[in-house]
Amino acid sequence: MAVLVTGGAGYIGSHTCVELLNAGVDVVIVDNFYNCKKSSIERIKALVTKDFKWYECDIRDREGMDAIFKKENIDSVIHFAGLKAVGESVEKPLEYFDNNVNGTLVLLDVMRNNGCKKIVFSSSATVYGMDNVSPLTEDMKVGGVTNPYGRTKFMIEEIMRDLYVSDNEWSICLLRYFNPIGAHKSGTMGEDPNGIPNNLMPYITQVAIGKREFLNVWGDDYDTHDGSGVRDYIHVVDLALGHVKAVEKVSGTTGLYIYNLGTGKGYSVLDVVKAFEKASGAKVPYKIGPRRAGDIATCYSDPSKALNELGWKAERDIEEMCEDSWRWQSQNPNGYPD
Ligand code: NAD
Ligand code: UFG
Repeated sequence: MAVLVTGGAGYIGSHTCVELLNAGVDVVIVDNFYNCKKSSIERIKALVTKDFKWYECDIRDREGMDAIFKKENIDSVIHFAGLKAVGESVEKPLEYFDNNVNGTLVLLDVMRNNGCKKIVFSSSATVYGMDNVSPLTEDMKVGGVTNPYGRTKFMIEEIMRDLYVSDNEWSICLLRYFNPIGAHKSGTMGEDPNGIPNNLMPYITQVAIGKREFLNVWGDDYDTHDGSGVRDYIHVVDLALGHVKAVEKVSGTTGLYIYNLGTGKGYSVLDVVKAFEKASGAKVPYKIGPRRAGDIATCYSDPSKALNELGWKAERDIEEMCEDSWRWQSQNPNGYPD
C-alpha cells in the first residue's frame, strides 16, 4: 500500500518523500512540475534506499489521476499540490481558485471513486486571519483571510469538513503550517523559488550569496520586541516528519483532525537576519522599508495538540534552520539544475 504525494517534487513535498521513504513507506509522486524541476526527483532518489514511482500529471486531469489510482495500490494521499504565492494570487485569482480549489475537488472525487478516503492536506496558518492573538490554537475561529491564496486554503478546509460530515468513513488531517524554512542536511535539496523571492529566508540567502543587494525589512514599527514582524519559523525536515506522523494517524482511524505544525517560538525579521549571519558567516545588508500590505505583527503557534495527539514536536532550532538554508543556497547558487 502506498501514499500518493501530490506536489511531491516541490519544496515541502520532496523533503516529506525522503522522510517517508526512509521510514519504509511506499510512495507515489504526482506533480505537474509547474513550480519545480524534474531534477528534484533525482535528488530525492539520491537520499533514499527505497525506490518509488513518479508521474507527471496535473491533479485537475481527472482521467490521468484516475489511471494512476487504478494502476497503483494507493491507501492514502498527502496533498501538497497547489499554487502558493500570495501576491500572485491577487493578480490571478481565477488561476488560484482553479488550481487549488478545483484541483482538490477533482482529487477528492477521484479518491472517492477509487475507495481511497484518507488524506493529509497542506493548510496554512494564514487561515487564522488577522484577528486571532498568538499563540494560535486549532480551536480558534478561522476565516477573515485577506488574499485569494489564503482563501483557497480556508475554502478547502471547509470543503473537507463538509465531506467528512457527509461520509464519516473519511479520515482527514488538516495541517496548518507556520513558516517553513531550512533545507535537507545534505545540501542537495531546498527551496528554489522562481524570480524574486517573496518569502524572507530565500530572500536572505540570495542577498548573502550576492544575487541581491540588500534585504527590505517590511516595517520596523510593529508592536514587537524590535518593531519587525514576528513569525514561527519551522525547519522543513521537522515539517516533513510531522507528515509521517499525520499519515500514520489517518491510516489508523477515521475522523477530521486539525494540527498546527510550528515550533511555538516567534522570531522577528531582525532576529532571523542575526541568526543567519552567525550561522553562515555571511553579511546580510538590509534597509527598513514600509509595512507590506496584509502582514500582521506577530504569528506563532501553540504546537501542543500535535505533540499530545501525534507525538510530534519540532526539534531543529533557528540556528540549524539558517545553517541548512545556507548550505543549500551556497552549494546550489542557481537552485536545481534544468
Ligand atoms: P512548492 O511550489 O514547492 O510545491 C508545490 C508543488 O505542487 C510544486 O512542485 C508544483 O509543481 C506542484 N503543483 C502545483 N499545482 C499542481 C497541479 N495542479 N497538479 C500537480 N502538481 C501541482 O510549494 P511548497 O512550499 O512545497 O508548498 C507545498 C504546499 O504547502 C502548498 O499547498 C502550499 O500552499 C502549502 N504551504 C506552504 C507554505 C510555505 O511557506 N512554503 C506555508 C503554508 C502552506
Ligand atoms: N519579510 C521582510 N522582507 C522580505 C520578505 C519578508 O521583511 O523580503 C518579512 C515579512 O514582512 C514577515 C516575515 O518577513 O514579517 C515573514 O514573511 P514571509 O513572506 O516569509 O512569510 P509570511 O509569514 O508572510 O507568509 C508565509 C507564507 C504564506 C503562509 C504564511 C502562514 O508565505 O503562504 O506564511 O503559513 F500562508
